[in-house]
Amino acid sequence: MNEVLRALYETCPKLTTAYIKDVLGLHDDRAIRVAEITGGISRDEADMLSDVVREVKPIHSLEVGLGYGFSAIAICDAAYQDAPGRRHIVIDPHQTEFAKLFRDLRRDA
Ligand SMILES: C[S@@+](CC[C@H](N)C(=O)[O-])C[C@H]1O[C@@H](n2cnc3c(N)ncnc32)[C@H](O)[C@@H]1O
Repeated sequence: MNEVLRALYETCPKLTTAYIKDVLGLHDDRAIRVAEITGGISRDEADMLSDVVREVKPIHSLEVGLGYGFSAIAICDAAYQDAPGRRHIVIDPHQTEFAKLFRDLRRDA
């Protein structure tokens, strides 16, 4: 696993209940499952994502929901990242809130 991603998994604070309910709009069992994930996807999912990208070798990829960027790092770290024309595009309408949340959680930790 990418060293930056590994460090993020060890230091990144978990999502707050308020963020999960108010921003992500989750109120049922999914809210509980999301709360257990640090930042976004699990380590196993990050490894799997890198494996899939290496296998599929997309020239362009689009990620809906950047969050802390765990999956973006996993995707961009995949072995063929230097392929000509390779581009990973991310969109997230809540990125400003996410950045503030991350900053506040780190400050309070
Ligand atoms: C679980 S987090 C992202 C995890 C991220 N892919 C990762 O692995 O680190 C889900 C993200 O989806 C974003 N999101 C919620 N609704 C969205 C929408 N309609 N379009 C794009 N992103 C959205 C949230 O702001 C949040 O950052």
